[in-house]
Amino acid sequence: MANDRPAQAVILAGGQGTRLRPLTLARAKPVVPLLNRPFLAYQLALLREHSVTDVILACSYRVDDVRAALGDAGHLGVKLRYVVEQEPLGTGGGVRNAADLVSGTVFVFNGDILTDADLTAMRQFHEARGSRTTIFLQPVPDPRQYGLVETERSGRLLRFREKPAADEEIATDTINAGIYLIDAALLGRIPSERPSSIEREFFPALIADGIPCFGWCPSAYWRDIGNPGAYSAAQIDLLEGRARMLLQPPGERRDGSWVAAGGSVASDARLVSPSVIGARVVLHPRCQVGPAAVIGEGSTVGPDARVESAILWERVAVGAGAVLHECVIGADVKIGAHARVGSGVVLESGAVIPERTTLAR
Ligand code: GTP
Repeated sequence: MANDRPAQAVILAGGQGTRLRPLTLARAKPVVPLLNRPFLAYQLALLREHSVTDVILACSYRVDDVRAALGDAGHLGVKLRYVVEQEPLGTGGGVRNAADLVSGTVFVFNGDILTDADLTAMRQFHEARGSRTTIFLQPVPDPRQYGLVETERSGRLLRFREKPAADEEIATDTINAGIYLIDAALLGRIPSERPSSIEREFFPALIADGIPCFGWCPSAYWRDIGNPGAYSAAQIDLLEGRARMLLQPPGERRDGSWVAAGGSVASDARLVSPSVIGARVVLHPRCQVGPAAVIGEGSTVGPDARVESAILWERVAVGAGAVLHECVIGADVKIGAHARVGSGVVLESGAVIPERTTLAR
């Protein structure tokens, strides 16, 4: 099978990311920062680890953001090409639009999944079963909000069930994890002229036509970063070691944190690990940053301010004595002195929060 080794991947990166608003109003979901690196850099690192270096990005929304963040991704050891839809074609049409650039067996990734799964083992499973489409399946505690996938004991796919309402319909706890291996010859089945869904149309039709399709259920870290809670949690998982760091955050290690160049940390500022401090960040006297704080490039944390379990994008200014806890702050936000931003709050890029304001969900 050596000639048939899938050295190619298509990443679906054209969604609007509505669940991650307002963050995705300012930046495309595939390149929102994760520990100060664009999200897709982690997927590219995983693909590269498994010798998949020819990667096609199927884009439609905010393509310029993606290009600005990743370019041709040569610095990540892969070759990235972009195919851009005139109109969004959905998850099916997005892959179809990239079909001319791929052959053999191709990985297809939703561009919002953080995982450290063993893709080589997935490929071996696919080949050993004679599968033509293999879907990474993930067990979840409450599968009702997802599309469920039922398999036979052998792993062969039986049926898909979209977001079942009633408990009795739930015959499995495994969901479609958004990563697939597909025989590229099958992609011609997807209509090219209209939007379509790979989950709701392409896969069920393969099963209906008796084409061998299997579910692969590894034990690996897996998270869909597509809503603010999951986006924050993924970063804390990486910092606290629950997810394998496929990429190190920028900066040098300092007492269990990462501190990038060009900034300054006051001698009486408290940096509590594990945290990530971006380039040119200024931490003023007596502030406390961390644990589990991620501070974007060019941000400042004022005197006596406290930032805990919070994600700050670039150039955020935190005023003196302000307290930020379990929140996500978009780029260029200004937090006034002594303001409090609490658990679950997500601030749009450019927001200005007056002094002494309290924001909570
Ligand atoms: P929500 O609006 O929050 O559901 O996010 P989303 O728009 O990203 O949709 P969803 O999470 O269902 O999409 C799964 C994956 O498919 C993501 O990586 C999207 O970027 C991608 N995707 C969704 N729609 C399209 C599309 O029309 N074209 C392309 N190329 N990719 C898409």
